Amino acid sequence: MQTDTDGAALREAAALIKKGEAVAFPTETVYGLGADGLNGAAVRKIFEAKGRPSDNPLILHIAGKKDILKLTSGLTKQAEILIDKFWPGPLTVIVAKSGIVPDEVSAGLDTVAVRMPSHPVAAELIRLAGTPIAAPSANISGKPSPTDAETVLADMQGRIAGIVDGGACEVGVESTIVDTTGEVPVILRPGGITREQLEEVLGKVELDPALAGVEAAKPKAPGMKYRHYAPKASMYVVEGEALAKLPLLAKEAANFAPVAVICGEVAESMQRTQNLHILNWGSAKTDLAVKLYRMLRRCDKLGVQLIFSEGVTEDGIGLAVMNRMRKAAGRQVLTLDEIEALLKNSSQLKSFVLK
Ligand code: TXA
Ligand code: MG
Repeated sequence: MQTDTDGAALREAAALIKKGEAVAFPTETVYGLGADGLNGAAVRKIFEAKGRPSDNPLILHIAGKKDILKLTSGLTKQAEILIDKFWPGPLTVIVAKSGIVPDEVSAGLDTVAVRMPSHPVAAELIRLAGTPIAAPSANISGKPSPTDAETVLADMQGRIAGIVDGGACEVGVESTIVDTTGEVPVILRPGGITREQLEEVLGKVELDPALAGVEAAKPKAPGMKYRHYAPKASMYVVEGEALAKLPLLAKEAANFAPVAVICGEVAESMQRTQNLHILNWGSAKTDLAVKLYRMLRRCDKLGVQLIFSEGVTEDGIGLAVMNRMRKAAGRQVLTLDEIEALLKNSSQLKSFVLK
């Protein structure tokens, strides 16, 4: 079943969820794959459809702020502030869980992730289903999250009971996850609500050290340890002063194999050729957020050998975007010195491209 979002379609989707089936639906961040969050057997269907490791817990989506109260054994002051200020919206809070949350949802942790989405279709679906909806992003595990219904279909056709088509997602990267159970709130995953917005209402906010790529640090959001968002081609982030040499590097590299460049500002100095694909997000970071996942999937379709991606500064939504971009690149970066060395030696460049 693929439906648009009229009342009958939403009622049908809600009925499927009540019956224990898994249905994809739009949120303001990315598409989710939802099932009855209080029904362990229904939740297991999500893990099966995605091929998701069972040690990776899910977010429960609710339609009213008060609905969190039966899912938690108690909220800290920080959690209350965040809920009051940012719900409905792209913010997930980690709270102490109550006895009604199935182990399938929390993957055995004593906490649970909860979010109240602002997308009207998501809100109405949850309301009609009459239960919290457990939902990860609606992609096959390891692929970029889907930001439109066509992409959900490409991954999930034949694996789930239905898709509610609500058009393209507005934010494009997932919700910000904040652990509110400790002394100081900790960002476990940057997302649609920025660090600056959080600091404005909370004062001090920490970043999970694992986000900085600290090797020894084990991420507190289990899902952040997996190699996510990865395109098939080898990918490098280029940023800062190194960007000046990106157009030349891309042009020379494309002599040896098909290359894609994901870029904003440098797009105007780039020249498209048969072997050089320019994926231009525009000028605003918010546009990069909206388009990044779709561009990564586009690179797979184009069958390029190599992807260069223009990095942006990590303020505002830039923190979330660069977190996803660096993960997609497996943390590979090219510095100005490295680019200059490659440009000086054509056989070295060739083996770099073809390796
Ligand atoms: O924007 C979003 O958050 C989207 C939409 C569909 O709402 N959902 C989403 O879900 O991104 P998912 O499953 O792809 O990512 C949820 C992340 C995972 O990294 C998971 O490990 C973490 O949240 N998580 C869930 N419960 C947790 C908990 N109790 N403690 C720490 N991390 C948790
Ligand atoms: Mg996901």
